[in-house]
Amino acid sequence: MISFEKEKKIFKLDTPNTSYVMSVYADMYLGNLYYGGKIDDADVCYMYRQGSEQIINEGEKSGFMNGFPFEFPTAGMVNSQETCMDIRNSRGQNGIELVYKSHEIYKGKKALKGLPASFGDNCDSIDIILTNEKLGIDVVLTYTAFNDVDIITRSVKVINNSSENINITKMLSAALTLDYQEGMKIIDLKGCWSRERHIVYENLHYGSFVNESLRGESGHQTQPFVAVATGNITQTTGEVYAMHFIYSGNFLGKIQINEQDSLRMVMGIHPDTFEWKLEPGDSFQAPEVVLNYSSEGLGKMSRNFHDFYRNHLIRSKYLHEERPVLVNNWEATYFDFTSDKLVDIAREASKRGIEMLVMDDGWFGKRNSDDGSLGDWFVNEDKIKGGLKKLSDDVHSLGLKFGIWVEPEMISPKSELYKKHPDWAMQTHHSIPVQARKQLNLDLTNPAVVDYIKTCLKDIMEQAPIEYMKWDMNKSLTDYGSEYLPADRQGEVAHRYVLALYEIQEYLVSSYPDLLLENCSSGGARFDPGMLYYSPQIWCSDDMDPVERLSIIEGTALLYPFSAIGAHVSKNTNDILGRTTNMADRAIMALLGTYGYELDITKLTDEEKEAIPDQIKTHKRVEDLVREGDYYRLESYNENHLFDAVEIVSKDKDKVMVVMMQVLCTPCIRDRRIKLQGLNPDYTYVVNGQKLHGSTLMNAGIIVPRPRGDYKATLLEIEKAY
Ligand code: DGJ
Repeated sequence: MISFEKEKKIFKLDTPNTSYVMSVYADMYLGNLYYGGKIDDADVCYMYRQGSEQIINEGEKSGFMNGFPFEFPTAGMVNSQETCMDIRNSRGQNGIELVYKSHEIYKGKKALKGLPASFGDNCDSIDIILTNEKLGIDVVLTYTAFNDVDIITRSVKVINNSSENINITKMLSAALTLDYQEGMKIIDLKGCWSRERHIVYENLHYGSFVNESLRGESGHQTQPFVAVATGNITQTTGEVYAMHFIYSGNFLGKIQINEQDSLRMVMGIHPDTFEWKLEPGDSFQAPEVVLNYSSEGLGKMSRNFHDFYRNHLIRSKYLHEERPVLVNNWEATYFDFTSDKLVDIAREASKRGIEMLVMDDGWFGKRNSDDGSLGDWFVNEDKIKGGLKKLSDDVHSLGLKFGIWVEPEMISPKSELYKKHPDWAMQTHHSIPVQARKQLNLDLTNPAVVDYIKTCLKDIMEQAPIEYMKWDMNKSLTDYGSEYLPADRQGEVAHRYVLALYEIQEYLVSSYPDLLLENCSSGGARFDPGMLYYSPQIWCSDDMDPVERLSIIEGTALLYPFSAIGAHVSKNTNDILGRTTNMADRAIMALLGTYGYELDITKLTDEEKEAIPDQIKTHKRVEDLVREGDYYRLESYNENHLFDAVEIVSKDKDKVMVVMMQVLCTPCIRDRRIKLQGLNPDYTYVVNGQKLHGSTLMNAGIIVPRPRGDYKATLLEIEKAY
C-alpha cells in the first residue's frame, strides 16, 4: 500500500510487516525518513533531525547536503557519501542536482523495457519524478510495495528532454541511508569456481565496503547482493537490510559509513565499465533493485526472497511443476561420447526411473575437446550418427525426454564462424584478445551477431523434439570493445552485452514456451535474479561433492528458493576434490534442488543401479515440499564445522523434511538434539512413529541418532497426524 500526505509531501510505502517513508524536504529534495518494521505514522519528519521547514542556507549548503539522507544522491552535490548518478553535459561538465517535480501513485507494476523485472498485481507503485530544469533532464524513481511479501523494489529511468546530448557516466539504481548501529555486520557471498556463494560475515568500519563484479556477469566470486545486519543477527533474531540486484552484468554494491555515523548502501550497474550517450528525446532505464528488511533474522530474509522470486520474478510454466529427473552425460563422458553411448546411458536410465537424458558439451562442429567449434552450431555427424532428430527419437522411444547443451555467447578462434567473422569477437585494437578455455566472447552489441544466435537456436530447436536446454557461458567478459559500435558508444559495450543476452533469452523462451531452460555459467557464475526471469532453474556449481555443497547450498539458499537450484548426484569419487562418498548420501543431499544424476549410470554396480528407483521415489515424495515450501536453516556446517541441518516446511505446515549431514564422525558425542522451526505449535506431528506437538518439536526438539562414519546424510520426513 502507498499513501501520500499532501501538506508535507510525505510518501509512505507499506508491506505486510515493513514501512518505507520518504518526503520532499523544503519543496526540493527527496529524502528517506525511515525503512524498517511497520509503523503507524506517516509524519516522521523529525527523523531528519532538523525541521523540514528550515530553509537551506545558501552559504552553508555543503553541510546540509552532506547530512541529508537523499533518496537518490547525485554527484557534485554531496562529497562525503556515495552517490547514484553522474552525467557529463554537452560542455563536458559533471555533476547534477535533482529536485522534486511530481509523482504518480498507481495499482500494480509496469514492466521495464528490455530488462528482467519483478511483476505482480497485488502491489502498488509510485513514480516520483526528480528534475534538473536547466539541463532538461528528468529522473523517474519507481518504487513498488508488495502486499503479499515484505519486499519493496526500486528502479530508475533518465529522460533527456533537452535539445543536447548528455552522457550518463554513473547510474546506480538505489541508495539507502540508515543510522549506523554499533556492532553492525556485513553479510557477503564470496567464492570461486566450484566454491560459489560461501557466506562471509564482516565487521563494518568507517569508510567503504565494496562488492563488485567487473567480469561482465555476476560471477563465481560475487553475488549482486549487499546486506547489513545488527550485531545480534541469527537465523531467528536481529534486523537485516538487504539489496539484491535483478541484473546479470557488472555491478557495484557499496556500504559506507561517514563521519556522522550515517550508513549508506548503494547498488547498481558498475560505473567503471559504463557510460551511456543519451540523445535528445531518449531515455535510459536502469535495472531493478529488490529491498528486503527482516526483523526476524536471516531466516525471514531468506523466506522473503524465496517467496518473492517464486511469485514475482520467475515466469516459466515449470515454476510450480515437477521437473523431470534427468541424467546428464558431462561427468559421465566429458567430450568423449557418441550417440550410441548416449543411448546406452538412456536405456539404463529408463530402466531405473530416470525421465530425461541431457546431452552436454561436445555434440557440434568438430568439438572433441574445449579447443574449438564454439559458434559452429551444426551437429557433428561423426559423433551423433543420423543427427539430432535420430538421437532425440531414440531417446524418446525409450520413454525419456531429451535435452541439449548450448553455449551461444561464445566464439572459438578455431571455428568456421571465426574464419568468416573475426570481427564478431569482442576485441580492442590495441590488445590481443584474452582467451579463456580457448574461446572469446561474441560481440552481442552487434545486431548481426544477435540474429545469428537466434537463427542457430531456432535451427537446433526445430531439428528435433527438445524438451530442455542448458545454456552455458564459460568465459567471463574481457576486451570491452566492439568492432560494430561507434567510438562514442564504446562505453556502452558491457551493458549492451547484457541487454542483448536478455533479448536472445526472451526470444528463446517466448518462441518455445514449453522448453525447460536451465542457465549455467561454468558452474554457478551467473546465478542471479536477472537470469531467473528467463529460466526457472540455474546450475548451482560444478561441485557436486556433498560436503563442499553444504556451504554452496547455504549461501545460495540464503537468497534463492530450492526450486531454482540445479542439483545432481555425481560419481562416488568427486572429479574436482577426489573425495569418495556414498551414492545414498549424495542422493539425499541432491534432494535440496532440482534433482538429477550426472554419472555413467551404465558403469554403476548392480547394487547402486538398483538403489536409484528408491532414491527417485524419495525425491518424488518430497519434491513439492522442496519446490514450494518454507526454508529454515537449523544448523550450519559453515559455522559449526561439524554438521549441517536444513528444514523445509510446507506452506500449510502439514509436511516437514529435515536433511542433515554429519561431516566427520567424532567419538563420545551424544546423539544430536535438533529444534525444529516454523511448525504449527498446536498441530500434532508424527516423527519416527511417535506423535508430538509442534510446540514440543520446536522447543524441546528431537533427537537424531548420530550415524557411524563420515559424510553421512540423514533425511527425516515428518507429517501432521490426522
Ligand atoms: C561448465 C558447466 O558447468 C558444466 O556442467 C558443463 O556443462 C561444462 N561447462 C561443459 O563445457
